Amino acid sequence: MATERAAADVAAEVERLRAQIETHNHAYHVLDAPTLSDAEFDALFDRLLILEREHPELITQESPTQRIGGAAATRFPAIRHPLPMLSLGKCTTMKELRDFDTRVRRLLASEAELSYACEPKIDGVAVRLYYENGHLQLAATRGDGEEGEDITANVRTLNSVPLRLRGEDWPQRLEVRGEVYMPRADFNAFNLAARAAGERELVNPRNGAAGSLRQLDPAVTARRPLTMFCYGIGRIDENWPLTSHVASLQRLAEWGFRINPDTRKVVGIEAVIDYVETFLARRGELAYDIDGVVIKVDDFAAQDALGVLTRTPRYAIAFKPAAEEALTRLVEVDFQVGRTGAVTPVARLEPVFVGGVTVSNATLHNSDEIARLDLRVGDLVWVRRAGDVIPQVVRVELDQRPEDARSIEFPDHCPVCSAPVAREEGEVVARCTARRSCPAQLVHGLLHFASRGAMDIQGLGEKVITQLVERELVADAADLYGLDVDALAGLDRMAEKSAQNLHEAIQGSRQRGLARVIFALGIREVGEATAAALARHFRSLPALWEADADSLQAVRDVGPVVAREIAEFFVQEENRALVERLLAAGVEPEPPPELPATAPLADQTWVLTGTLEGLTRKEAKARLEALGARVSASVSAQTDCVVAGPGAGQKLTDAERHGVPVLDEAAFMVRLGELEA
Ligand code: IVH
Repeated sequence: MATERAAADVAAEVERLRAQIETHNHAYHVLDAPTLSDAEFDALFDRLLILEREHPELITQESPTQRIGGAAATRFPAIRHPLPMLSLGKCTTMKELRDFDTRVRRLLASEAELSYACEPKIDGVAVRLYYENGHLQLAATRGDGEEGEDITANVRTLNSVPLRLRGEDWPQRLEVRGEVYMPRADFNAFNLAARAAGERELVNPRNGAAGSLRQLDPAVTARRPLTMFCYGIGRIDENWPLTSHVASLQRLAEWGFRINPDTRKVVGIEAVIDYVETFLARRGELAYDIDGVVIKVDDFAAQDALGVLTRTPRYAIAFKPAAEEALTRLVEVDFQVGRTGAVTPVARLEPVFVGGVTVSNATLHNSDEIARLDLRVGDLVWVRRAGDVIPQVVRVELDQRPEDARSIEFPDHCPVCSAPVAREEGEVVARCTARRSCPAQLVHGLLHFASRGAMDIQGLGEKVITQLVERELVADAADLYGLDVDALAGLDRMAEKSAQNLHEAIQGSRQRGLARVIFALGIREVGEATAAALARHFRSLPALWEADADSLQAVRDVGPVVAREIAEFFVQEENRALVERLLAAGVEPEPPPELPATAPLADQTWVLTGTLEGLTRKEAKARLEALGARVSASVSAQTDCVVAGPGAGQKLTDAERHGVPVLDEAAFMVRLGELEA
């Protein structure tokens, strides 16, 4: 027919439309950066549908119109994997991550830090994709790792899975692996719609993804909001030109696969830990569910050298944080007396594994907390331990309270010295009123005095201090300096040599500097940083104890509460006596070197990350602090500068995100030199 366009023209237009649609699909579903409006896209798609309807002979399996779902199947054929789909060994603590690194480096006989790929562990369904000459041929589930199911028709409906590869330098045969999942927002929207329509809701995003992939009718799968992140390559029959995992993922991205943007290559296990901590802290903000982080040795030669142990590769590991809450029984409540006399209830629990450790004690804080929890001895309780935070009882299973559960009486006399316990007005904490004459307060006060941030007396631990107090050899910290070697050697399990060492450690602590001595006094509310600020300001103990509330509050970080505690401390005669006796015992609190009137980095916040070669982190921190800066552990918009050595990970990314200036070690040393000059 004369009016009919030449078949070749139609074929060309069909091909052009398909290319435009696939480009948009890629931009929208893979890059997350749409190039067309929905209306423009729909117009292209409708035009293609019309042409294909008029010319059915032009329809190919790879046409975007065919993603919507082909014929329903009656079953999924079994597919053997040419290369087994492995599983991952897992760990739950940072120590185990360091052990993994040690093991890997020992096997590789590597002195140097290794490069690792760090990736989110997506909580979805593992899928293997197989391409020949750039065309998707097969998609299979993992199954038992050896044999899975052919779900090609269903996977073809996923817009994030290329039916044809982009670019051209792909190998003739290519196997790609990844995880199909349902984004959380789409899952919620799906369930909302299902509920409104009175249809069955999905249990959770992972079940939703698994169920959707196992629909016999691909048209049903097509209506489910599924997407896929690719995390690796499988078998390749040609020489693969790339030598590392992360570089290979980048190549997969060029061919049109969706790669997780939070994938990072880092150097050294400390940078891995940095990534894991930062990433897991963000897990609530992610668009998808994860069940941990995967860490892989990046270099393929090293991966091959490490090999596979039965079903798990030695070159990779999954970090899955241990559950942070667990259920156990409250066996008893004891009361402990601390340095400040605070009487703290402690829960004795049936041992339970939580947050990566076995917990048998948890703090209950104070009597208000016990009342708030409505806690009784014998109750089933939820215990929480997150990070290094001390374990807490967070909830009681009131429904399962045993009949003989016993209520908890808060003592009105100190369980150690029997002095009355009092609660000051407006305070939640009850305290033993006996002060240093209470052995428990004395022991804890001395422990604090000897602790690392205070006088740092090695070998003076709880066992030794308890004996010194019980034998009445020591009634306050100043008495420590009067102990001779014989007195120390007379303690239980104290050899002559240890006694000498301890004696030396005690005597050697006389020159610790003013800030440590102020901290060591154990004034309530005065931590290390406040003690340092007080030392810089007042420059001697007598000047500090003469200070009134106004001059105390002139110090940075000292507000009315802290000022009141300091003043109250020095009002007490026994505290003044202690200070005098310390000075008389030869404790010589040197004031810190004077800072210039305005320290060059006053009010600035710096962050150190990665490895520095020329100086330790501690030295770098000390030098920055001497210039007036605070050194913080995390990067925010308020950070003034980040110093990044090799192996810097998330903090460097955060710095870039917040536009915070970054110095490498060389530039940092130059800057320090200028500022210190
Ligand atoms: S790598 C040889 N990377 O976790 C290593 N797996 O226990 C093979 N998964 O079945 C897996 N995200 O379904 C790898 N970024 C990721 C992953 C990931 C999720 C799943 C995968 C696998 C299971 C391994």
